[in-house]
Amino acid sequence: MTSMAPDSPRARALAAFRAAYGRAPTHLVRAPGRVNLIGEHTDYNDGFVLPMALERAAWIALAPRPDGVVRLAADDLGQQGTFDVAAARSRDARGDARDPHGGWLEYPRGVAWALQDMGHTLTGFDGALASDVPRGAGLSSSAAVELAVAAAFAAASGFAWDPPAIARAMQRVENLWVGVQSGIMDQLIGAAGVAGHALLIDCRDLSLRPVPLPDGVSVVVLDTDTRRTLVGSAYDDRRAACTRAARVLGVPALRDAAAEDLAAAAGRLDPVDLRRARHVIGENARTLEAAQALAAGDVARLGHLMDASHESLRDDYEVSSAALDAIVAAARAAPGCLGARMTGAGFGGCAVALVRHDAVDPFVASATVAYRAASGHDARAYVSTAAAGAGPEALPGADPAMRPARGAIMES
Ligand code: GLA
Repeated sequence: MTSMAPDSPRARALAAFRAAYGRAPTHLVRAPGRVNLIGEHTDYNDGFVLPMALERAAWIALAPRPDGVVRLAADDLGQQGTFDVAAARSRDARGDARDPHGGWLEYPRGVAWALQDMGHTLTGFDGALASDVPRGAGLSSSAAVELAVAAAFAAASGFAWDPPAIARAMQRVENLWVGVQSGIMDQLIGAAGVAGHALLIDCRDLSLRPVPLPDGVSVVVLDTDTRRTLVGSAYDDRRAACTRAARVLGVPALRDAAAEDLAAAAGRLDPVDLRRARHVIGENARTLEAAQALAAGDVARLGHLMDASHESLRDDYEVSSAALDAIVAAARAAPGCLGARMTGAGFGGCAVALVRHDAVDPFVASATVAYRAASGHDARAYVSTAAAGAGPEALPGADPAMRPARGAIMES
C-alpha cells in the first residue's frame, strides 16, 4: 500500500506533483477501491452490505493555494484541469458532466460542490492524482477518486473527516452531479474502511460494524476483462422493481420485508418483481449471516453464502453475465476455493473468491487457465488484504511515528 515501487500510484502522484509544479507537496492522501464480499443490490433497499476496502487506491499529492483555485494533474490520463472552488458552489455550475473530453474534472468539481453544500469552507490546492484501481471493473474507481479529492480538501482546508457525512456527500456527487443513481456502499466503505476488517454496514442508519478477516483465508478479486454495458439503465430498472415491490408489500423498503411477507403477497406481485424482491430479501438475510460466520471464523459457511448470493444474482436478479458465470465456475473448481460470486453492480467486471491462504497461487493459476479456456478472455487476479479507508498518509522522509491524524475516522 505504501510501496515505493516507481509505478505505484503513491510514487506516481508524488512524481507527477514535482513534474507539474516544480516543488514538493505538503500533503499526501489516499482513498481505496473496494470489493463487496456479500450484500449485492441491497444498499438502495436500506439493507446490509459486507464490503472491504482494497489496497488498490487513488492517491493525491497536494499543496494548498491561497486563491481558491484547484489545479489537478491526472497522471493516469496525462491531463491537467483547473477550476475555481467558488464557481463550483452552485449545482448550476455543472457544465460538461457528460462531455467525453472534459468529463474527468467533473468528479473533483462535483466534490467541491457537495462539500460546500454541506457547509464546509474550502481551500484550493495544487494536486497530482494517480490511481491503480482498474476503471470500469466494479471496484469503485470513481468513488476512490471522489474520496481522494474530498480527503485532499480536508487536508488543505482542515475539516474533520466524518465518514457517514462524507459518504452521503459523495453519493450526492454521483446522483446529482455526475447523474448516476448509485447507492451508499462504495462511498461509505471507501470513507470508513478499517484495515484487516470487512465492514457490516446498515445502509439505513449507516452504522458500521468492523468484522476481522480471519487468518488463513485470502480474498481474491478476479477481473473478467469484460466491461459493463448499459449498466446504468439496467441498474435503474432493478431499483424501480424494488420500489414497486416494496409498495405492494406495504413496507418503506425491502429491508423491512421477510421471506414470509413475500410469500403471502406473491399473488399480488408482478412475477419479475417477485424474483427481484426475493433476491433482495434473501441477500439481506445472507449478509447478516455472513457477518456472523466471519466473526466466528466459519469461513466454510461464508463461502457457501457467497455461492448462494451468486445464484440469486444470476437467476432472480439477472445481473450476472456469461463471463461472470464462467469465472465463478472456474474459481469454484480451483484449489482452495471456499466460495465465489460476482461482485458490484454486475453485467461484467469482477468476481470475488474466498480462498485458503496456502492455496492462493495454485488457485489463481487454475482459475485463470480454466476461465481462458471457457471464455477466451484473460482474467486478472488481485489478491488484497482489507485496507484502511480514505485519509492522510505520510510524505516521504516523514517520521512514521508522525503519521497524520485520521480525524474523526472510527477505528472500532
Ligand atoms: C454499484 C453501486 C452500489 C451498489 C452496487 C450493487 O456498485 O454503486 O451502490 O448498489 O452497485 O450492490
